[in-house]
Amino acid sequence: MRLDIITCLPRLLESPFSDSILKRAQDKGLVTVKIHDLRPYSTNKHRTTDDYAFGGGAGMVMMIEPIDRCISALKAERTYDDIIYMSPDGELLSQSIANQLSLKQNLILLCGHYKGVDERVRQHLITREISIGDYVLSGGELAAAVVADSVIRLLPGVLNDETSALSDSFQDGMIAPPVYTRPAEYNGWKVPDVLLSGHQAKIEDWKQEQSLKRTKERRPGLTS
Ligand code: ADE
Repeated sequence: MRLDIITCLPRLLESPFSDSILKRAQDKGLVTVKIHDLRPYSTNKHRTTDDYAFGGGAGMVMMIEPIDRCISALKAERTYDDIIYMSPDGELLSQSIANQLSLKQNLILLCGHYKGVDERVRQHLITREISIGDYVLSGGELAAAVVADSVIRLLPGVLNDETSALSDSFQDGMIAPPVYTRPAEYNGWKVPDVLLSGHQAKIEDWKQEQSLKRTKERRPGLTS
C-alpha cells in the first residue's frame, strides 16, 4: 500500500510514523508513507497556502490551487483508489471503514486546517471525507495519523501474530475480552482462575462470555 499525506504542517506527522508498528511496516516494505508539505505547491510570493474567506468571517481558508497542484502531481505518478479529506463532518471512522481502506493500493489523505478548505476542493478533488469523531481538532493531521494507524496495522505481515488484528475489538462487532499477565496475584488482586486452568475450551468460552458482557455494557448498539 502507498499512503500520501498532504499537509501544511508536515512536522506534526513525523513522530507517528517513526516508531513502533508503523515504522516497522515501512521498514518491511509493506507500506510506503509519504508526507507532502503543501507550501512548495503555492505559487504566491510568500508561499502561503491559506487566505481570507470570501464574504468575511473569522478564520483562514486553505486555497484550492496548492492542493490541486499537489494532488495533480501525485495523480500523474499513479492512480489513486481514494482521495480522502480529513474533516469533522465526514463519515465517522469505524473498524469497517479501516478494513475497507486496508484493501486499497494507493490513498491520499488531505489534512485540513484553519476553517477548512475551499469548498471547491471538496466538490471536485476529493472522493471521500472521514472524521475520527464528533469533536473539532486544530487540524486534520492527528486524524490522518489515526486513520493511517487503523489501516496499516491490518495489512498482512504488519502484526507479528497474524491473528491479533482479527481478534481486535470491533472486528467481529464485539469488544475484546479483558487480558491479564504475570503475576497471577498482585496486592491480593487475582487473575480469574479459568485463565490459569490450562483448559483451552473453557478459556475460549470464558473469553466469549466476557466479550459479550463488555459489549452489552459498553457498546450496546453493537449487539442489537
Ligand atoms: N479535522 C478537525 N477535526 C477533525 C475530526 N474530528 N476528524 C477528522 N478531521 C478533523
